[in-house]
Amino acid sequence: MIISKLYLTDFRNFNKRSLGLSENISVIVGPNAIGKTNVLEAMFLMSSGKSFRARLEEEMVAYNSEISRIKGLIRADNQNTKLEVVLTRGRIEIGENKFEKVPRKKLLVNGVAKRLLDFAGNLKVVLFGPWDLDLVTESPSLRRRFLDNVLSQVDRDYRRASLSYEKGLRQRNKLLWQLREDSSVAFRNTGRARLLFWDKLLIRNGDYIARRREEFIDFVNSHKSQISTDYSLEYDKSAISESRLQEYKEEEIAAATTLVGPHRDDFIFRISGHKSQVTSLFRELAPYGSRGEQRMAVLWLKLAELDFIKESTDEKPVLLLDDIFSELDHEHRGVVMKVARSQQTIITTADPHFVEHVNAHLITLK
Ligand SMILES: Nc1ncnc2c1ncn2[C@@H]1O[C@H](COP(=O)(O)OP(=O)(O)OP(=O)(O)O)[C@@H](O)[C@H]1O
Ligand SMILES: [Mg+2]
Repeated sequence: MIISKLYLTDFRNFNKRSLGLSENISVIVGPNAIGKTNVLEAMFLMSSGKSFRARLEEEMVAYNSEISRIKGLIRADNQNTKLEVVLTRGRIEIGENKFEKVPRKKLLVNGVAKRLLDFAGNLKVVLFGPWDLDLVTESPSLRRRFLDNVLSQVDRDYRRASLSYEKGLRQRNKLLWQLREDSSVAFRNTGRARLLFWDKLLIRNGDYIARRREEFIDFVNSHKSQISTDYSLEYDKSAISESRLQEYKEEEIAAATTLVGPHRDDFIFRISGHKSQVTSLFRELAPYGSRGEQRMAVLWLKLAELDFIKESTDEKPVLLLDDIFSELDHEHRGVVMKVARSQQTIITTADPHFVEHVNAHLITLK
């Protein structure tokens, strides 16, 4: 699949900008703070319906504007699709000091409004930027977000299960809180009966989420990689079941929060010992790996993500590389450039010297 055109209106620092992209490699060159990452953010937004970096989505609306529009033309299987995201700060001015409430976000496919569930996944991308290096060492929530992003792109049922799980989790936590605060006998019985409903919902959706996460991690561990070193992932699953919920029930009420389930999942990066050692010995990469090893492990994971999406959807996702060349050594830059040639790839860089000899469509931002 390819993005052939991108139109930005009042998105971040772009007031009006259109970009034509090559089917092969496009390189976006420009100095710091010119908007290179913003362009990739717009593409990621069209893919997932979410930003990968904005804490509040309205941060993406240009300072001097109330409405932001991101439009992209996508081609897959000889079919063209128009994807559109419209963002606001929740209100627009309709007269002097008169405001109207408007939706904060609208998602459209070929001009028709869609729910996130049906918008996401129309465009598939793999995004790789310097912040991904935190995946090895930073908090589990980052790794869960990574898993959710990959699986949400390829599987509508996963998207539905996640949304349903998150909603159920909020309700269940609220109920746990009420059970803690109100210990009257009357409420104790009805409250506990209601808890069973949410237990079932979380178990049903949680099972599905965990199953798909497990499959993905198995895929990553067994996929054939262009990177030679021996990395692996270990799924650190927080299983959810009737018996586990039963076991933790009193603790959960005391803490007013759900203590087991996929929202507590994690995975661990490992690297095999030196050749002289037993190869079945996998060290944990977060505490023991060098910065370079951690970097390569993330590259290894990203390449696996690319293959996973390819294999599970029969479509090649668009590869988005944000300024990663300065992070990689010569050999691994070579690996990335080789991979870049096998699907549409968009590379940003502040330093054109990294892409001097690359046969690519050049886009200069200034
Ligand atoms: N809502 C917004 N409205 C206007 N400008 C914004 C908005 N949000 C961010 N910006 C501006 O966008 C610029 C940053 O863009 P971006 O992160 O894409 O730069 P970059 O080219 O990737 O830079 P670097 O090479 O440093 O990574 C900043 O100057 C920032 O002030
Ligand atoms: Mg940037």
